[in-house]
Amino acid sequence: MAGNRTFTMIKPDAFAAGNSGAILKMIEEAGFKIVAMKATQLSSELAGKFYAVHKERPFYADLCKYMSSGPIIAAILEKDNAVEDFRTLIGATNPANAAEGTIRKIFATSIEANAVHGSDSDENAEIEGNFYFNQYERVK
Ligand code: CMP
Repeated sequence: MAGNRTFTMIKPDAFAAGNSGAILKMIEEAGFKIVAMKATQLSSELAGKFYAVHKERPFYADLCKYMSSGPIIAAILEKDNAVEDFRTLIGATNPANAAEGTIRKIFATSIEANAVHGSDSDENAEIEGNFYFNQYERVK
């Protein structure tokens, strides 16, 4: 059975453009409940740890630089079928391929600066949520 939590980051491009509020509004209107949330800024080292799964990819160094370039918002979200439904809401990784009305289609500027992150599995949602939040920082 699919889990009911996912993890997201509003990335530096969207945060700097002042789109965090509009993006959170879309997330809430799509039925996701915010279970934990914080504004923070990653060091390049921490960005590297978060995206360690991509460390052999050609875009890894640029991704770490970009993800540590400014503030972000990290959040744990709750909804039935959270991982899949959130990926539908945000659209394809490359905004050029994202469906109309999706968060990336509306707010992303490139495949790297793609406005938001969404976990790709229940297992990674748990790992990524734990990367940012301890048990006392979550709504019960
Ligand atoms: P995200 O869903 O956070 O997961 C990995 C991130 O790496 C992705 O969003 C993009 O920001 C970035 N990314 C993925 N593919 C590429 C690519 N081909 N070129 C540059 N960045 C990429």
